[in-house]
Amino acid sequence: MSETRTIGIFGAGWVGLVTGGCFAELGHRVVVRDVVPERIESLRAGKLPFHEPDLPDVLKDNRERIRYTLDSDDLAEAEILFICVQTPPTYSGDADLSYVWTAIEDLPRDDRDRILVMKSTVPVGTGEKVRAALEARALTNVGYVSNPEFLSEGRAVRDFMNPDRIVVGAFDEAHAHAVEALYASIEAPVVHTDIASAEMIKLASNAFLSTRISFINEIANVCELVGADVQAVAEGVGLDHRLGPHFFRAGVGWGGSCFGKDVSALKQLAGNSGYHFQLLAAVIEVNELQKRRVIAKLQKHLGKLRGKTIAVLGLAFKPNTDDLREAPSLVIASRLLAEGAHVRTWDPVADARERLQGATQCESVLDAVRGAEAAVIVTEWDELRTLASQDVREAMARPLIIDGRNLLDPSETRRAGFAYEGIGRPSPPFEALPETVEPETRAPSS
Ligand code: UGA
Repeated sequence: MSETRTIGIFGAGWVGLVTGGCFAELGHRVVVRDVVPERIESLRAGKLPFHEPDLPDVLKDNRERIRYTLDSDDLAEAEILFICVQTPPTYSGDADLSYVWTAIEDLPRDDRDRILVMKSTVPVGTGEKVRAALEARALTNVGYVSNPEFLSEGRAVRDFMNPDRIVVGAFDEAHAHAVEALYASIEAPVVHTDIASAEMIKLASNAFLSTRISFINEIANVCELVGADVQAVAEGVGLDHRLGPHFFRAGVGWGGSCFGKDVSALKQLAGNSGYHFQLLAAVIEVNELQKRRVIAKLQKHLGKLRGKTIAVLGLAFKPNTDDLREAPSLVIASRLLAEGAHVRTWDPVADARERLQGATQCESVLDAVRGAEAAVIVTEWDELRTLASQDVREAMARPLIIDGRNLLDPSETRRAGFAYEGIGRPSPPFEALPETVEPETRAPSS
């Protein structure tokens, strides 16, 4: 067990609450400060503003040790202060650090020794700028450490408690050890490094994960042309221990608030420093095109999409989250609407009614596929594993499934009476659609 410390957190967003909740779970006292009154009120009332498995229980079980506040003075009791604020891209593609600078303005002004820790993802070089900003404010009592997060949405608490590594970049060794000590009860390798390298580890990790996915998506696209099966190819390649099996699932492309932002930020950072990062430019472009390939697959089977009803199944950028940021579903559904299709959507938790005006969000999978000429699996929710059922076949106007996540077994799905197409999986040159169901069993499309 590590020595109990008081930790301050700037930002009650997803990173701030996971970090705060998990440090409280490790026995530390935590003060979470945010500037949005409604957010603080609802947290005090025990309500979480987003869906993240296990986090509600962690916050509830440790409520004695966590305090939520609007008042930056309440952070004065904290010895170690984590910055967990947003760093969204600006129009130029650089990261917007304005929330970081606001947090620095709000640092306690007494002369107690403290450590400021950067959890937010920031461009390489931010640590140097923060150090200059602290010096300019005569905050020489405040040390600085970069301790990037590697949490995945939907499994963030597990990732925090069982990390592959803990990265600690510091100007001063004593500060690095103080931050490392917060995690003493967690077993994981600790990478001690300079600040710039710690900042780069975060960006390079996300860029490489995205590169792997764009790579396997391109392999999938070639598989389609030459009659190979990307699932078998990924398995065969991934068993090479130098390559590994993870982040190697072909599909409709990566989404989420992190990959797009961080890959662009790294590309931009390289560009600003005089280097054209060609590989990342391709990784981004491949991903944009990958989302749109579903439309061509639908057109191959259905011809013009104008007036056709298409079910888009799964909206969140991945399962176990309600996060719609950069979700491939938004691009796919918007393209379908632009083609003049009627779009019926379903997701167990994400609500896209505001973002997808013109689409009909349905309560159940069966409702979404009713009267549809095709169903597209966009997010691999467990509920969709049984999509190839008799009920669904009878509800659809044409039993066509485009499986954007290779979730279903192609042979079983075809045996169940569906035309099936996945990503990078062999399909007959032109798959005649199975007999359509009788018109009276169809519901009118909206
Ligand atoms: C990602 C990283 O995985 C985390 O390590 C990192 O901390 C986080 O970004 C961040 O920077 O905060 P996250 O965005 O939550 O986490 O989601 P991922 O699980 O990485 O998935 C990203 C996207 O890639 C999803 O759309 C997912 O469907 C897609 N994906 C993932 C694939 O298309 N194929 C795969 O094999 C894996």
